[in-house]
Amino acid sequence: MMYAPVEFSEVDYPRVKYQRRQQFWNPIRLALFTLAIVAIIGIAIGIVTHFVVKDDKSFYYFASFKITNIKYKEKYGIRNSREFTERSHQIERMISRIFQHSSGKGRFIKSHVTKLSPDKNGVNVLMVLMFRYPSTDSAERIKKKVEMILYQSLKTKQLPLTINKPSFTLTSIDSKKMRNLLNSRCGIRMTSSNMLLPASSSTERIVQGRETAMEGEWPWQASLQLIGSGHQCGASLISNTWLLTAAHCFRKNKDPRQWIATFGTTITPPAMKRSVEKIILHEKYHKETNENDIALVQLTTQIKFSNVVQRVCLPDSSIKLPPKTSVFVTGFGSVIDDGPIQNKLRQARVETISTDVCNRTDVYDGLITPGMLCAGFMDGKVDACKGDSGGPLVYDNHDIWYLVGIVSWGQSCGLPKKPGVYTRVTQYRDWIASKTGI
Ligand SMILES: *[C@@H]1O[C@H](CO)[C@@H](O)[C@H](O)[C@H]1NC(C)=O
Repeated sequence: MMYAPVEFSEVDYPRVKYQRRQQFWNPIRLALFTLAIVAIIGIAIGIVTHFVVKDDKSFYYFASFKITNIKYKEKYGIRNSREFTERSHQIERMISRIFQHSSGKGRFIKSHVTKLSPDKNGVNVLMVLMFRYPSTDSAERIKKKVEMILYQSLKTKQLPLTINKPSFTLTSIDSKKMRNLLNSRCGIRMTSSNMLLPASSSTERIVQGRETAMEGEWPWQASLQLIGSGHQCGASLISNTWLLTAAHCFRKNKDPRQWIATFGTTITPPAMKRSVEKIILHEKYHKETNENDIALVQLTTQIKFSNVVQRVCLPDSSIKLPPKTSVFVTGFGSVIDDGPIQNKLRQARVETISTDVCNRTDVYDGLITPGMLCAGFMDGKVDACKGDSGGPLVYDNHDIWYLVGIVSWGQSCGLPKKPGVYTRVTQYRDWIASKTGI
């Protein structure tokens, strides 16, 4: 319904107009009006100078130091271990606290531990630090500032970990070196300008349903295609040669020579393409019950990791996600039941659902086994669908992404009380290790 315009009679109209004019231009209004104009001009100048004059650039440093109040554990040497992850996150949190509450506030972007090694007095830490400073600044000058901030907080702050000051060294590195250092780690996303993608970028853009993905947002996503018939399933890159996917993707055809894998946010054109060397289905995959719906795909040639193609981390088998944890599912699948495959990668935020709820008579009535994980919403709507099969369900822990599920099955898509059912990756951690060594 539209609102009818207000009608003035010929006689009334001029009087109303006159009164308004007189009220509007009193001295206070005039002063406020002038102030507002000045403020707008000020803001405009501010915006222009921000973009034109303050041309910020990323500066990267490699930091090495000793922490003396903790003991080295053997598991620190294994990058995917819970011990390494937790300790690294603690160090990273401490470093960001140091820089975020300092004069360099807003300049500090991110830190990442790349290695923990044993030392007779504690633990040696190697990490990458990222800052943004005006491009006119020199790497040496910024290095001095960074050191000063750090030394200052070692003196004045109560820190949970004791950094040994004489052991601290900082080396300026270029973006290529930085990428190589970070590429040794899994589950990291970066934009094309080498900035780390913050975890919140995807959360903000999802209101309800599936949004298209940005380049580099889900760099481990692959499309498995049958030569001649196109996209069949999704898959996740877990090393430079191995993909993890669902066993049911190979029901019709498991001849590796008939398959290819592509990477990137679109199916055509792909960012990268690989032929398949080997397909390994779980020996106990059961097609009636969907049990053990997991398979490994080995590529014929190694992948060179980049901002666009990167591997996801495998979770430690001990990691437990409580119900209602936010997780993301991505895929090229249809957006409606029985709809067409999408050329652009899409993503959706869903929540984990406890097995007790998912196995209830009014939900999946006893069909859920310990190797399955339910995620979605009990009122439906947001879900994985046909063509997403084999694709990743990922969980973000302090900007490091873990593969927790493989799209497996579900009754229709997005129906109430029929959430998506995923292969529970933690349950198959040892199986994956036994086949790939990862
Ligand atoms: C789900 O219920 C069925 C039937 O009651 C049961 O056999 C199965 O073990 C349950 N699943 C889990 C993971 O407990």
